[in-house]
Amino acid sequence: MNRIFSGMQPTRQLHLGNYLGALRNWVALQASYDCIFCVVDLHALTLPQEPEVLRSNTREVAAAYIAAGIDPQRCILFAQSHVSAHSELSWILSCHAPIGWLNRMTQFKEKAGKHRDSAVLGLYAYPVLMAADILAYKATHVPVGEDQKQHLELSRDIAGAFNRHYDVDFFPLPEPQILGEATRVMSLRDGSKKMSKSDISDQSRINMTDDAETIAQKIRKAKTDPDPLPETADDLVARPEADNLVTIYGALTDQSRQQVLDAQAGAQFSTFKTALVDVAVAKLAPITAEMNRLMNDPAEIDRLLSHGADRAEAIAAKTLAEAKDIIGLLRI
Ligand code: AMP
Ligand code: TRP
Repeated sequence: MNRIFSGMQPTRQLHLGNYLGALRNWVALQASYDCIFCVVDLHALTLPQEPEVLRSNTREVAAAYIAAGIDPQRCILFAQSHVSAHSELSWILSCHAPIGWLNRMTQFKEKAGKHRDSAVLGLYAYPVLMAADILAYKATHVPVGEDQKQHLELSRDIAGAFNRHYDVDFFPLPEPQILGEATRVMSLRDGSKKMSKSDISDQSRINMTDDAETIAQKIRKAKTDPDPLPETADDLVARPEADNLVTIYGALTDQSRQQVLDAQAGAQFSTFKTALVDVAVAKLAPITAEMNRLMNDPAEIDRLLSHGADRAEAIAAKTLAEAKDIIGLLRI
């Protein structure tokens, strides 16, 4: 059986990178897989959080999933902290994860920066909790953006280490699914940086809660170069900002970059940006409206998350009990 697991952190707002790199692909996958989508609130604790803001962001990410088209009846949609098996399995897996493997994680190096000694243990252990998220459901496929590839490889290594250590074929090795044209959406202000929630400039990203006027203004101001759109995608290599806008346009209209260029080669960016605003607003406005509608009824979101947690718990608790048996933890 093929099962999908993926998640996003409820840290600030979701943006176009989250949508094109991950969420949009999840929506398409629900037709052919057994899908589990999680709001990974425990992962958010690796950075300082305001309690009220965390609560609201957790609901907002759940609302974004549903507004984008995740069906909470067909899929399991829940918040990580509601299923305690994630934390327990994380401890067990951490005892099978050599420190050398974790030392290689580039995201930790980037996030901890020069202050490695004051970085919290949770930030360092973050990829092990991610492995636990996936393995608790024995998920076979994990749709994520490009930036999560290394974490996924670590999840596979940890699953393999566990299986080998106990000589079992217990955890499937999860496959990353890095799908679509826009696996790495870049900042609108700097084509060498990925679009990110943590960028201090709000102009660098399109948030899923931005209204049409804000989206239009951010795209009009997006950095570009003076040349018109080229004939071939190869000609975009040295033009990261132009490449990014063409990639975004392609992803929003289900076309490859080359297809976009076939229709738009020779256009000036002023013209192309107008077309991009139209497709971005057409795609995002209905999702934003639905998110806002859902956010007006927090009790309903909580009810859906609670229903999802019950269904998730049933699967994860069984995996955890089996893992404990394999390890030799006494069953009473
Ligand atoms: P995060 O916001 O870090 O919790 O990421 C949630 C999902 O969005 C993950 O699958 C990421 O790989 C994906 N993602 C985040 N930023 C980008 C981006 N700039 N481009 C493409 N995918 C992204
Ligand atoms: N680390 C992922 C991110 O920042 C979020 C995440 C946590 C995740 N657990 C996961 C993604 C399990 C896929 C599967 O984007």
